[in-house]
Amino acid sequence: MAVLVTGGLGYIGSHTAVALIEKGIKVVICDDLSNSDINALDRIFKITNVRPKFHKTDLKDYKKTELIFKRNSIDAVIHFAGYKAVGESVEKPVMYYENNLLSTLNLLKAMKKFNVKNFVFSSSATVYKVSDIMPLKENFPLAQTNPYGRSKYFIEEILHDVCISDKNMNVAALRYFNPIGAHKSGLLGENPNGIPNNLMPFITKVAIGKFDKLKVFGNDYPTKDGTGVRDYIHVLDLAKGHICALEKLKEKPGFFVCNLGTGKGYSVLEIVKEFEKQSGVEIPYEITKRRPGDIAECYADCEKAEKELGFKAEYSLADMCRDSWNFQKNNPEGYKSVQ
Ligand code: UD1
Repeated sequence: MAVLVTGGLGYIGSHTAVALIEKGIKVVICDDLSNSDINALDRIFKITNVRPKFHKTDLKDYKKTELIFKRNSIDAVIHFAGYKAVGESVEKPVMYYENNLLSTLNLLKAMKKFNVKNFVFSSSATVYKVSDIMPLKENFPLAQTNPYGRSKYFIEEILHDVCISDKNMNVAALRYFNPIGAHKSGLLGENPNGIPNNLMPFITKVAIGKFDKLKVFGNDYPTKDGTGVRDYIHVLDLAKGHICALEKLKEKPGFFVCNLGTGKGYSVLEIVKEFEKQSGVEIPYEITKRRPGDIAECYADCEKAEKELGFKAEYSLADMCRDSWNFQKNNPEGYKSVQ
């Protein structure tokens, strides 16, 4: 009896693997290492004293996907593996659809063959239609602005169809808001390749001296200080949300969708200020023009998560900033840093 964590050496996957192990659940990790580092496996071991079985597998290869199920007794899958850079997805839509859709289809095929009926999917708040009405509820209209977001939406639809066709199949599609923060130990955290697209990894790279300053993308939004407002959630809270989702699947809900956020919105400048407070490092910034495709505000309605998953985010923005900095400070070269 084990949970297969695909993309289990990535940012959210590795934290979730630790949370599962700490619950006494056996974990099998597969990852193609295309945007992660094998050293994360040692870090998981350092934290938990357990070395999960690891398969370096590209899920686009059906035969290799099947082998994971042949070699392990899997009873649930948490599917994180996927490409996730918005800009890149606009440039390379075929690569995004091929990778994100095919890997999911192969997993579903192998699950059918090996009679595995529980699936947790790493979806995103990016599936929601741009809206002036906040907070976002699960039943709000969906529409995406880029291939990355659409791949998440398409996968949700596929999973829904699979649940309709197979009454024993149970799926939780978790729509994440903006995960930041890192493991308390400073051993696991966000470690993007190249220039970070997202706010917090960029801030930590400025703090460590890799970049001179942060570009704040616009201060003319109709928000509290003109900068973009998002619902930042600690990655440890997010990891806990997956444990709650696995519990939920025991109730056999069929296809189940749920937001994972805090319900609170913070602006870019509030994040910068709190990060400076927690790290003691000044973050120079300049206001630049808006990033195409960005929206003013986005935060979650957390009622469904609370009612149906028994999930409530616990960590504060101070915790998130402190832990993000702790990881970056201890790992100036990411997972290549010696621990
Ligand atoms: C982005 C993606 C979203 C994805 C999510 C994953 C876009 C348009 N959206 O969301 O699809 O699911 O990441 O976490 O890319 N900001 C700056 N300077 C920076 C970086 C960001 O000012 O260097 C601002 C943005 O304008 C935004 C906020 O910080 O207001 C958060 O940005 P980001 O971390 O990229 O997340 P999202 O845009 O919410």
